[in-house]
Amino acid sequence: MNTTFVPHFSPNMEVQISNTERNALLTIQEIVRNSHPGYVYLEVGSYLGGTLYPHLADPACQQIYSVDLRPASQADERGRLFRYESSSTDRMRTILSQQLSTESMSKLTTFDADLADVSSDQIGRLCDLIFIDAEHTNRAAFRDFLNAYPYAKADVIIMFHDANLIFDALENVESWLISKKIKYDSFVIPDNLFVIVMGIFIELGTPIFSQLEFDKKTYFHVARQTLQDYHGVRALRLYASWCLIHGYRRQAARIHQYALRYTTLNRTNMLEWVGDTHHDKQVFDKIERFTVNKQAVSDSHGPIDRLRNRLAMVLLGWLERLLR
Ligand SMILES: C[S@@+](CC[C@H](N)C(=O)[O-])C[C@H]1O[C@@H](n2cnc3c(N)ncnc32)[C@H](O)[C@@H]1O
Repeated sequence: MNTTFVPHFSPNMEVQISNTERNALLTIQEIVRNSHPGYVYLEVGSYLGGTLYPHLADPACQQIYSVDLRPASQADERGRLFRYESSSTDRMRTILSQQLSTESMSKLTTFDADLADVSSDQIGRLCDLIFIDAEHTNRAAFRDFLNAYPYAKADVIIMFHDANLIFDALENVESWLISKKIKYDSFVIPDNLFVIVMGIFIELGTPIFSQLEFDKKTYFHVARQTLQDYHGVRALRLYASWCLIHGYRRQAARIHQYALRYTTLNRTNMLEWVGDTHHDKQVFDKIERFTVNKQAVSDSHGPIDRLRNRLAMVLLGWLERLLR
């Protein structure tokens, strides 16, 4: 192993993780490369290759598998859509080739696919280090884990990004490991990395990660509340827009204020707040029906009302897209 090499990110490449997370990933790479020279790295979700670079550059890394479905857009647990139209494996390879030698690039095998559609003939080697950073929904993250696990060595570190969004998937991962009686330890590392260690990495990683980690229970609790708040504020902003479009300016301003100092949303406390007049209740019922079924908004009579509602529907559709 080249002991003079220091793992690093490329200063010229975009990476979709924070500086704190970069440092954590480099620390993990150090642990793996020092104990398992010739290590194999699997990444699910590579975008333009920013998180592949440190392993491609590392002479201690022998083989890299990058699996990226390359959808035009992807969702996350906030209901937001992220567009990735300009990302392609060709573009990623071109950017990486500009920074790295041909020898480094020869370690890279790419799949334009979901991991479920990649076979064990194609991923021929078991992996020491796995990074799951694809679609940040619970369903996808848990599925990626189940599909990646067969490629894990007994000594493995499995990392997830955006633990603050996929905490339910992570709790399922832990339940699954427990049900299979697989020995592991896990850590939440700032900002939002979830790290699972197995085999020898329990011994090697735990002393380091336990100094860096957040308290897992508190982190998951706060993440859940923050996500609920996000959805609540989003619903309130839509509601305020609906009121504004329908000329209920006073209510729109109040709801906007409420959204600003919002903590948690449920129908009861929202009704308590908005339901102080019969009129407000009617407005609330309308918006609630709108959420369930957009057709329900066109429940008024007369051509002007119908025209106004049609306009409101167009504007709301536009606002909804903006809020994603
Ligand atoms: C957050 S980005 C990855 C960022 C990258 N790791 C970095 O830090 O630079 C997520 C990537 O997951 C990919 N993706 C979305 N759905 C996927 C799936 N089902 N399987 C594999 N990759 C997927 C997207 O194409 C996108 O490139």
